[in-house]
Amino acid sequence: MCGIFGYVGKQTNVGDMVLRGLKTLEYRGYDSWGIAVKNEGKISIEKKTGKIGNPKLSFSQSNIGIGHTRWATHGGVTVANAHPHLDCTGRIAILHNGIIENFEGIKEDLLKKGHKFVSETDTEVFPHLLEDLEKTNDFSTAFRLAFNKIKGLNAIVGINSETSEIAAAKTGSPLVVGVADGEFYISSDSLGIVPHTKKLLFLKDNEMVILGKNLTLLNLPEGSEKNPDIQTVDWKIEEADIGKFQHFMHKEIYDQPKVIRGIAQREDEIEALSEIIKKAFGTFFIGAGTAFYACLAGSYFFSKIAKRHVNTIAASEFNYLEDFLTDKSLVIAFSQSGETIDVVEPLQRASKKGSKIAAITNVLGSTIYRISDFKMLINAGPEKAVASTKAYLAKLAILLMTSYSLSGKIKEGSEILLKTAEEIERILKDEDSLRKIAKGIKGLENVYIIGRGPSYPSALEGALKIKEVSYVHAEGLSGGELKHGPIALIEKGTPCFVFAPNDETYDAIMSNASEIKARGGMIIGVSFKNSPLFDHFIEVKDIKEGSILSQIVPLQLIAYFLSVLKGFDPDKPRNLAKSVTVK
Ligand code: AGP
Repeated sequence: MCGIFGYVGKQTNVGDMVLRGLKTLEYRGYDSWGIAVKNEGKISIEKKTGKIGNPKLSFSQSNIGIGHTRWATHGGVTVANAHPHLDCTGRIAILHNGIIENFEGIKEDLLKKGHKFVSETDTEVFPHLLEDLEKTNDFSTAFRLAFNKIKGLNAIVGINSETSEIAAAKTGSPLVVGVADGEFYISSDSLGIVPHTKKLLFLKDNEMVILGKNLTLLNLPEGSEKNPDIQTVDWKIEEADIGKFQHFMHKEIYDQPKVIRGIAQREDEIEALSEIIKKAFGTFFIGAGTAFYACLAGSYFFSKIAKRHVNTIAASEFNYLEDFLTDKSLVIAFSQSGETIDVVEPLQRASKKGSKIAAITNVLGSTIYRISDFKMLINAGPEKAVASTKAYLAKLAILLMTSYSLSGKIKEGSEILLKTAEEIERILKDEDSLRKIAKGIKGLENVYIIGRGPSYPSALEGALKIKEVSYVHAEGLSGGELKHGPIALIEKGTPCFVFAPNDETYDAIMSNASEIKARGGMIIGVSFKNSPLFDHFIEVKDIKEGSILSQIVPLQLIAYFLSVLKGFDPDKPRNLAKSVTVK
């Protein structure tokens, strides 16, 4: 993960500008941050642990600088481990996104040569390696040779205070260059660049760029020059407005009815997606985390409504199942950020096998969006909170509509979505009762959630939401699996949410609820009707498959309230990042 931002050009307030750029990238990691600028022929650095906030920088005027926001991989969250990292002479500053897999061997050699290391990071080998190679090569050649020596999926950006150049190269993580009149920007995504320039160069893997007075693009490993394919985009970056809410997570839960209504209107795009599915011989859904649970729910919709089989696989596992792919297969990737490396990698491999790849993503111009043959935007608006809420429901809405489209009844899908939006509004009006439930379980260590069929993904997603923002151990289970082991964990008072919608799963899931109750469990029923089995009842009205969408909303709110009641920041939970760009 980690976010990278850099600038070289005419402007002289580079510290503040890099800081603004970094703030747009904090979704990629917020363990620590740091900025390096050239100052009177030397490099000055400011680094801090924690989120960026509103620091006052003490840099003097400079026209070249780079900054980094970190999600720790190697080495704890300390100022010493924060990027940028310097060489022994203090002339070279380096930022990194990825993992240098062979750093230990390189570090051993460099230590023998007398280099001094001050951090525990894998990154720090790079400036020292570069310093070593610079003894016999110019900056650009030394950077290229150093980059060729490291292994893994990496993006590295550096500045040299003597040449006043930025060098950057990548094999995995994204890097975008913004080109303006005598100015260059470089960033992990286009978000922070587009307000300055609409001319973008998306670096490909095994490319390197030198930015100074000019832009030079090189092939790796040999260093031959190539023509840059600079694209002019007409993207407008939609700003996220928190409105009356205290946290984005809360606000984004409230955005959901509007998002769902929007999808109900997109019949043409949904029909186009159905057409490519009809033509494929073998369709695979892939996604990570919440997006994977959306895929799983989609496979139930496809089976039930469209009578079609799809293969749903967690994207990080797909590489090990790709032997099934042919040039007739279709791989549909679901990703809010469009940058998740666990999704990007299998898509690239599927594409090499000749399979068609489709992207359902929320971020225009993201890596997944750009590399896919068929693209559809989720159009949920910016999702800022790390915990995905509205993007999950939007994906479910797209999958539900697509299933109805494949069965020739798209209007019915659209009507269900409109009713779902109304039902979510009703649930939101009663958030106080959900806050009370959160208060009641806030001191407990374990929460269980069960569902069957299309409600099984709801159980998984509900548990993920609770885990990631409240740090309470929550487990989502299929009701049927309960007595194959997990029921051993139920004790007197153990809270267990039970998804019991008005569908073919109702009788069986209620039997599972009885089994828990018989062992003293506290049952919180999420259902269209109350039952004597329930200790607490959360009403979710029956709207056919639309209930699978609306029933997650109470769990999203309970997770949110748990987080706030425990005094955590629900928007930036510990150890997480919004975009996961390392394997
Ligand atoms: C969701 O709450 C999580 N933060 C996480 O599971 C997320 O859905 C996953 O990392 C995939 O992200 P993407 O949709 O941006 O690919």
